[in-house]
Amino acid sequence: MGLMLGDTCPDFTAETQNEPLKLYEYTTDCWFIICSHPGVYTPVCTTEIAEMIKQNPEFAKRNVKLLAMSFGSKEDSKGWIKDICSLDGGGREDLPFPLICDQGRDAALKLGFIKPDDKTKTGLALTARHVMICDKDKKIQAYMVYSATSGRSFSEILRVLDSLLARERTGCSCPVNWQPGDEYLVPDPTPAGVDQYVTDIRKVELPSGKSYIKYGKPKQ
Ligand code: BEZ
Repeated sequence: MGLMLGDTCPDFTAETQNEPLKLYEYTTDCWFIICSHPGVYTPVCTTEIAEMIKQNPEFAKRNVKLLAMSFGSKEDSKGWIKDICSLDGGGREDLPFPLICDQGRDAALKLGFIKPDDKTKTGLALTARHVMICDKDKKIQAYMVYSATSGRSFSEILRVLDSLLARERTGCSCPVNWQPGDEYLVPDPTPAGVDQYVTDIRKVELPSGKSYIKYGKPKQ
């Protein structure tokens, strides 16, 4: 069984394109998101990491650190980063976040991204795209897995992050298709102090007579 929501993301030390990284030191007092990539010099991964460069300022604004992770050597990763940066068009020569070069797959194994039996195998079964969103206490708050052939939507990852940060701040949940600025779902009974964050709380009348769907507008 791999890691699950609410578990603590394990610490690890790994090579990156630059200095070796100790996860817990790198993510002291901030949320972080680990995005694993199945290969180096692979097309879907390349477009995804170029998108991570573009969206990095949005994550940084929220004090959230992105980490990319792949299974190439440091040498391969350095060459690949030049290709990735050429897609970004911003003239940069390095990524604004670490690319973990997990050639021995030790970090992937610790994170539960691969099974022990698969550590030395190659092939698509190993190569899913994992997204692990962790809070300041290193607890896993969201975990998504995509096939190797499906590029992720980093706008969706940002949306999920925003909903988690909203819950942390307000105690409220976010309904289907929620976008920042949309109404929250207010817990029932309404918690003391929630009116700091929401206004115009309205209950939806339901055939059951229960009051478990209550919307509230976010206070600006
Ligand atoms: C890709 O990034 O395009 C890719 C990587 C591994 C398997 C399949 C696709």
